[in-house]
Amino acid sequence: MTKAVVLAAGRGSRLYSPKPKVLHKIFDKPVLAWVLDSLAEVELDEIIVICGYKAEQVQSFLHAYPVTTVIQAEQLGTGHALQIAREAIGDYEGSVLVVNGDCPLIESSTINDLLKQHQDNILDLSFLSCELEKPYGYGRVIRKGSEIIAIKEEKDCSEPEKLITEINAGVYAFEWQTIAPGLETLSNNNAQEEYYLTDLIAWAYSQGLASASHKITNPYEVMGINTREDLALVWKLKNEANLELLMRSGVTIVDPLNTMISPDADIGQDTIIFPGTYIQRRVVIGEGCEIGPNTTILGPAEIGSGTSVIHSVISRSSIAENSFIGPFAHVRGGSDIGPDCKVGSFVEVKNSSFGEKTMASHLSYIGDAKLKNNVNIGAGTVIANYDHRTGKKFESTIQSNASTGANSVLVSPVEIGAGATVAAGSVITKNVPADSLAIARSRQENLSPSRKTEA
Ligand code: UD1
Ligand code: CA
Repeated sequence: MTKAVVLAAGRGSRLYSPKPKVLHKIFDKPVLAWVLDSLAEVELDEIIVICGYKAEQVQSFLHAYPVTTVIQAEQLGTGHALQIAREAIGDYEGSVLVVNGDCPLIESSTINDLLKQHQDNILDLSFLSCELEKPYGYGRVIRKGSEIIAIKEEKDCSEPEKLITEINAGVYAFEWQTIAPGLETLSNNNAQEEYYLTDLIAWAYSQGLASASHKITNPYEVMGINTREDLALVWKLKNEANLELLMRSGVTIVDPLNTMISPDADIGQDTIIFPGTYIQRRVVIGEGCEIGPNTTILGPAEIGSGTSVIHSVISRSSIAENSFIGPFAHVRGGSDIGPDCKVGSFVEVKNSSFGEKTMASHLSYIGDAKLKNNVNIGAGTVIANYDHRTGKKFESTIQSNASTGANSVLVSPVEIGAGATVAAGSVITKNVPADSLAIARSRQENLSPSRKTEA
């Protein structure tokens, strides 16, 4: 039986940002979400998240998660945060796992190992530690012989203590009934004038309770986000690890140093990712695709097998199999492109659908429109979907086998019937019946040299 408390009330002053630290993103996912996703694979009775600095923002982000939130109105330290959590935890008779909300690289397997060691050895208090070559900034694990007697914060350490390389990772397991009384003994008589959670370790020692650290070997896993440099390093680490996994699963990454793919994206075998590509979470790419160079895909998005996307941006849209997107296309706003389609150079598609074998090859804007099968959109066609005065948007439909001539404008709402043709340069404001030709432009007149001056 375990409950978890996630400490997420701090401001993160070293990020120099009005935004709470835990909402800063790695790929398109906040630091806190990475921590909560790790906790999702730990068996827990409840997750309590302590919010404080700009709590409304953190709480509104947390709506999607099955967690309880507790407000720490003043952030007086990590120990104070746990004191505030006490009411929500109640007189719980199990273990309480406490996790710093700013450690997005922590793995669920590591947390499970810590809990297992804690429960198997019937310990009162355990925590994750790690040997770091450069322990600067972290709390140090102070031992007498092999026995743990305290954790001391960097700012409170003596010079010899600063040489200690075993650091506190900020993930703890407490036997709640035994440890909770220690919270009353915390004081802020220290360098930062904060109530330190880590002072519970010395208190447990003074009470003769059983404490242990669980040493982990990957120094990055314990990394807390404190600065923008830390954020950049975590982006890099998450990306590197993910690209390695993708390559091992059969995806070609031509230039790993110039490719960023969220670990929450799925990519099929024999897809090739060319340099300069950035792919966010909730993107699913099929097999044998060619993505990039210089392509951005923002999720949720789906790319079917055999599709190519070159020098383009796809955002919250899906492309079916064997289609060709780009170069320099922008497909966005819930668009749905069918199989064997083309969205070519300088074409923007917004909230629109293409059936099968439909093509918009050059220089077009397709907004709020349904294009059925085998439609051909001429170069420079624009669907005028927006009334600037009212701010309203209108929809148009182009039925199968219809085509629009170059430089035509369809003023929505209109329907172009099946097999109909819109002549080049037309401004269409009325529906066009099936199989007919719509011409909506003034006729060309060729004036003789003598009439040129009249004109
Ligand atoms: C903390 C530990 C340190 C450990 C390090 C690991 C303490 C006193 N020190 O230091 O031993 O090596 O983590 O990363 O715990 N928070 C609150 N309320 C507060 C203060 C902080 O919820 O009043 C939250 C923060 O949002 C953050 C977490 O607690 O997510 C840790 O706080 P932070 O200030 O980053 O502690 P460190 O100085 O990094
Ligand atoms: Ca920290």
